[in-house]
Amino acid sequence: MQTFDVTDYATRFAGKSSAIKRPREITYFSYDENHALKHDESSLRYYYTPDLNVDLGQGYNSFVKHDDSVDEHLDSLLDALVELERKEGRISTEGVHFVTWRGMMTKIMTVPYLEDGFEMNAVFHEGTIFIEENNLYKQSTRGTQDERGARMSFWGYKFETLSTLSRPWGEATREEIENRTREIVNNKAQYCSIVQTGFGDSGIIIAGEVDAIWDCRPMNPANPINYVELKTSRQVSSTNQQINFEKKLQRFWAQSFLLGVPKIIIGFRDDYGILKNVEIKETQGIPTGIRKAHAAQGLGPPPWNGNVAINFTTAFLEWLKGVLAGKEGLWRIRYQQRGSRIEVFQVQESGSAGVLTDRFLEWRRE
Ligand code: A3P
Ligand code: MG
Ligand code: MG
Repeated sequence: MQTFDVTDYATRFAGKSSAIKRPREITYFSYDENHALKHDESSLRYYYTPDLNVDLGQGYNSFVKHDDSVDEHLDSLLDALVELERKEGRISTEGVHFVTWRGMMTKIMTVPYLEDGFEMNAVFHEGTIFIEENNLYKQSTRGTQDERGARMSFWGYKFETLSTLSRPWGEATREEIENRTREIVNNKAQYCSIVQTGFGDSGIIIAGEVDAIWDCRPMNPANPINYVELKTSRQVSSTNQQINFEKKLQRFWAQSFLLGVPKIIIGFRDDYGILKNVEIKETQGIPTGIRKAHAAQGLGPPPWNGNVAINFTTAFLEWLKGVLAGKEGLWRIRYQQRGSRIEVFQVQESGSAGVLTDRFLEWRRE
């Protein structure tokens, strides 16, 4: 077993942030309302301001919920890469050291602040390390959700339904805008963006769900895309709540930073799930915003630092490259508890144990 030390994170990884690349979208895909994969942007949603004082719990009993206990591995991400390579006639992972879901990168970026541990599977193939969540671990550690937890989770999806349209606002009718409160909430449909980015000397392909777009896709593909991330959170009315919210903001920031999503739109609700106000935050300005707020309120140092998270991720990926380069079989990346070490060890001597699909492997053999 090899380990990466996480202790003294804040001091060891302090300083100016390491070189990072602006994420550039290489392709995208959708899941339709039955969660079937489509290589298009059909499930992309368009942001349109929601009405305030609406009940985010309304329609809970008709929620069409995706069963996320099924292990989807990296399947749709790999399928999208095959599609892209077929279309462009080039290998998409050239110069790319890692391919993974955004969720895995978010866990890595926020390691010292995670409440729980994690387990991931990794496979080295033709110069690239493919990383997925270890679904067995995820299922075994997932507590049972109580009624209130299930309702609160619904609030988040309801907010997405209330704040988006299926086409740009300029094309939508008044009726479509008003009908959003009556729309059935369905989280099987998703739109995912796949970007290429970099931390230090590590090139990475990351795929993640994008909730909506602010306006519409730019005509010039070289221009950044105005994606938005939607979140709900409790209204802040005390310093304690402010600190809790700032801690949550680290995850929001990391998620959006990784895909290059420039705006995070937060629907603040009360304890009963009534939407009270909506705030638009620029992802880039979040770390500085928290630092300034703390200075102005005499609150002491902020609960987290963006540069530290970036430097830590750069160092960890560089180390992981060295551990897994040229290795066969299935490897486990494990983080068991706060302030400990990230452990990497082999769990299977050959094969990719479902991390890579037959379709992907056959395509690459051709
Ligand atoms: P919030 O974002 O408002 O919390 P995402 O924000 O990643 O786009 O996810 C959309 C919604 O899915 C979340 O809304 C939340 O309601 C729900 N959700 C996401 N991750 C969850 C988790 N681990 N457990 C329960 N609900 C979750
Ligand atoms: Mg989402
Ligand atoms: Mg969201």
